Amino acid sequence: MVSGEVSPVPQHVAIIMDGNGRWAKERGLPRTMGHTKGVEAVRRAVRAAGDAGVRYLTLFAFSSENWSRPEEEVSDLMGLLRRFIRRDLAELHKSNVRIRVIGDRTSLKSDILPLLLEAEETTKGNSALTLIIAFNYGARDEITRAMQQLAQEVASGRLTPDQITADLVTAKLDTAGIPDPDLIIRTSGEERLSNFLLWQAAYAEFVFLPDYWPDFTSETFAEALRIFAVRERRFGGITAVPTAVAG
Ligand code: FPP
Repeated sequence: MVSGEVSPVPQHVAIIMDGNGRWAKERGLPRTMGHTKGVEAVRRAVRAAGDAGVRYLTLFAFSSENWSRPEEEVSDLMGLLRRFIRRDLAELHKSNVRIRVIGDRTSLKSDILPLLLEAEETTKGNSALTLIIAFNYGARDEITRAMQQLAQEVASGRLTPDQITADLVTAKLDTAGIPDPDLIIRTSGEERLSNFLLWQAAYAEFVFLPDYWPDFTSETFAEALRIFAVRERRFGGITAVPTAVAG
């Protein structure tokens, strides 16, 4: 951090919300209880991000690999997202929060997709915070779908291979138009990316926190921002770029 910089806030924070199951197990509760408590932590995280002046918050809610969990848990996670949108959409809209959803929509149940589309449509004019929900999301799947689109454009003659640039790939991803995450937080002490935002994470700072996701509070968020604020970002160069202006 360059001296004189005041409290640099990352423009885009992405969170791998991990530890719901362990939180529940330690209390002798069913895993689903951990996810239910996790939704309360989601609300705290959205509020904390908005209050801190973060512009984009991405939450990893359901990965393309999560389908391998027991059917009951999958159905529970789907139900929690449904309820979250139904209960919180009005409040989020009132708070000027824009909702975007990333991930493969084609295999989502017919009752979830319209809800997600409604949330995106209702809030598309909002400008305070963009909440990006990664649902049925896997980075390799996202990149593969982008490659298929580009290959189709080449096959149809609309594009030549040498016109494919990093910017064009970026524009074909689910996150098109969203700046790369500056900070990726993972809770629960695990230190992995787990197929999350692989392309977009090229220059992200990583902060791994010991807390289980249901225990996540505004203070946990503030702690991650403090750690981020003193990191030096060089973007492949040799001079530190102040975290406040690094893009
Ligand atoms: C990881 O904990 C968490 C998940 C797979 C799901 C996260 C989902 C929510 C917090 C609720 C729904 C989200 C929204 C946006 C409404 P884990 O079960 O892998 O925990 P473990 O590693 O301790 O078993």
